[in-house]
Amino acid sequence: MSRDVRPALAVDRTELARRLADGPRTVVMTMGALHQGHLDLVAEAVRRRRADGGQVIVTIFVNPLQFGADEDFDTYPRTLEADLEALAGRGVDLVYAPSAADMYPGGPPKVTVDPGPLGDVFEGAVRPGHFAGVATVVTKLAARTGATAAVFGQKDAQQLAVIRRLVADLDLGWEVIAVPTRREADGLAMSSRNRYLTPAERQAALALPRGIGGGLAAAASGAPASQVRRAALAALGRGDLRLPDYLAVVDPATFAPADDAWSGPALLIGALKVGATRLIDNAEVALGA
Ligand code: PAF
Repeated sequence: MSRDVRPALAVDRTELARRLADGPRTVVMTMGALHQGHLDLVAEAVRRRRADGGQVIVTIFVNPLQFGADEDFDTYPRTLEADLEALAGRGVDLVYAPSAADMYPGGPPKVTVDPGPLGDVFEGAVRPGHFAGVATVVTKLAARTGATAAVFGQKDAQQLAVIRRLVADLDLGWEVIAVPTRREADGLAMSSRNRYLTPAERQAALALPRGIGGGLAAAASGAPASQVRRAALAALGRGDLRLPDYLAVVDPATFAPADDAWSGPALLIGALKVGATRLIDNAEVALGA
């Protein structure tokens, strides 16, 4: 594909179905406002598909079901033209960018996917219903595209854990591929929501990766879970920020808090509100090494 050739675009499920080819299909599900973190997911999908000659499909849909009433659904950036431009020449075969009416023709669905206990803690506790919305749309997007594999970012670690459980528990049969978090040069995890930040908030937001870094350093020197958490809180500092929504060391699969007897891989997760913008971040830590 030449540099400026855009992928084909389907804006409804009929056209999507018409453009699907036989064979493996790797899907990158996004809400658009694409940044380099998304493009890393796309690159991983394309790398995999080169091996088997299948299709790479990117979905772009701002899913109303996963936003709370007081959240940023209305203001979430919608940049389809720029997104198609960003995807040009990257080896993507098809973009599916449906409307809400195409995705939910009867209005909000009566049957939704229950994300289980993982849906109630941390992000799920701060954003009730969020993971049910994610699990429902991911299930629908995978069904509509006939996904054999889908790629997700490690930055949304709890989302990734929910999706892994969803696929395993409901025998959905597609492969879940995780891609590491892409960071800005100063350490801030890339997110479509970073564009909401004023320059002062952008500086303040660095507290979150600083906290994660402090926890990582403590873990590298052999500290147990509670000390890793304390080190992360200390590195995050208070300044003029609110306390983080949460900062915790958890089991990467269940998100149950890790205790000081924990040995092996764990996740240090954090969420912080800066101005009106909520940011999340995480890193894998090896405990008891
Ligand atoms: O991570 C996201 O962008 C969304 O939660 C997803 C997976 C596309 C579902 O709407």
